[in-house]
Amino acid sequence: MSVTLVPSLPALPTVAPAPLDVLGVPGEINLDYAASAPCARAAADAVNELLPWYASVHRGAGALSQRCTLAYEKARQTVGDFFGARPDDHVIFTRNTTDALNLLGRALPTGTTVVTFAGEHHANLLPWPRGSVRLPVPADPAGAVRALAAALTELRRDSNPALPVLVSVTGASNVTGERWPVAELARVAHRHGARIALDAAQLAPHAPVDLLALDVDYLAVSGHKLYAPFGAGVLIGRADWLDAAPPYLAGGGATSRVGPATHDVTWATGPARHEGGTPNLLGAVALAAVCTELAGADRAALAAREQALLARLRDGLAALPHVVELRTFGPDAPRVGIVSFVVTGWDSAEVAARLAARHRIGVRDGLFCAHPLARRLLDEAAGRSGRRDLPSTALRASIGLGSTAAEVDRLIEALAELG
Ligand SMILES: Cc1ncc(COP(=O)(O)O)c(C=O)c1O
Repeated sequence: MSVTLVPSLPALPTVAPAPLDVLGVPGEINLDYAASAPCARAAADAVNELLPWYASVHRGAGALSQRCTLAYEKARQTVGDFFGARPDDHVIFTRNTTDALNLLGRALPTGTTVVTFAGEHHANLLPWPRGSVRLPVPADPAGAVRALAAALTELRRDSNPALPVLVSVTGASNVTGERWPVAELARVAHRHGARIALDAAQLAPHAPVDLLALDVDYLAVSGHKLYAPFGAGVLIGRADWLDAAPPYLAGGGATSRVGPATHDVTWATGPARHEGGTPNLLGAVALAAVCTELAGADRAALAAREQALLARLRDGLAALPHVVELRTFGPDAPRVGIVSFVVTGWDSAEVAARLAARHRIGVRDGLFCAHPLARRLLDEAAGRSGRRDLPSTALRASIGLGSTAAEVDRLIEALAELG
């Protein structure tokens, strides 16, 4: 990992260990963690602690600026370590996952073919060049592995084997919460000489994600889904393509030398190449604070608690005859705390508005920036349920660290009234 620390400064005071706690407003039931998770107390504390010192990053000799530079680079180190970055990976701060995947899309060597599945979020469907391959949504995780192996075999047979191939997959679906077999897909990709990128936007808030253990080449994450709501994301991965690519944002900070002629410029290598302009210090620090907090937490216990709540939520929905769950894989496929569903005979936007107005419950409605998948799953749900009165969009409830059984029950009770 490329990190430049400012050596002579004292270390920042560490934030006192706090319980893994998230902020919220009493009485407001937030069941929309998958869109943006609430702020972790650790993130708020880290930001508050730094705010008096707030100054420029990488741009000043003053003590405040030096401290901010140190905090930013320490955040890079912490986030990279948390996600298992290899020593020579770049850890590049971005605005979010969309930004991270667009950056990767712009860094692809000429002639790269990108292979995705149609079940992806738009952020992992749209940044890729023309000629990219979109595989159909598989029936189960094993089907995904088989389909990728077949597609890569065909691609390698029909195209110049010297041309790069990038497979890009999600770790967990933002529509169904279902987990994808990332390690197996990585093995298949590498067996065919391809690289693999992981969209961990929805997986990282619920489960440990380790680049090295999964053997993925790139990883993209959003801070605001990981309890760090200050607008930072990260792209972590192999340095070679990133150092060879044109800078994602041309400007100050991305250069090592600029001469008098318009194009007389030497671009920096390392993360700075793609982080032109003043960086989002507070976002980076907030994200690092959450990573530190999660690294010290009992993740297995947190996951077990979430799975119990998820089971309560899904059982509650299943018991309502007018509710149909959306799913890609079988009902027992491993998943994180996200469930999409429809209320038969009800427009989903109307249901969401009613939940908010009458019950102070926040859920998401729509097609969740995964239009191809959501439309397909709505069709599948209509077929499975045999109902003709399904709406054309869906509802999504998603849970996380601050969610409670009482909140889940309130949603189920509110939906029961619609039957
Ligand atoms: C799986 C997945 N990937 C990518 C994104 C894009 O994240 P962001 O809007 O933070 O860029 C989302 C957002 O919902 C997502 O769920």
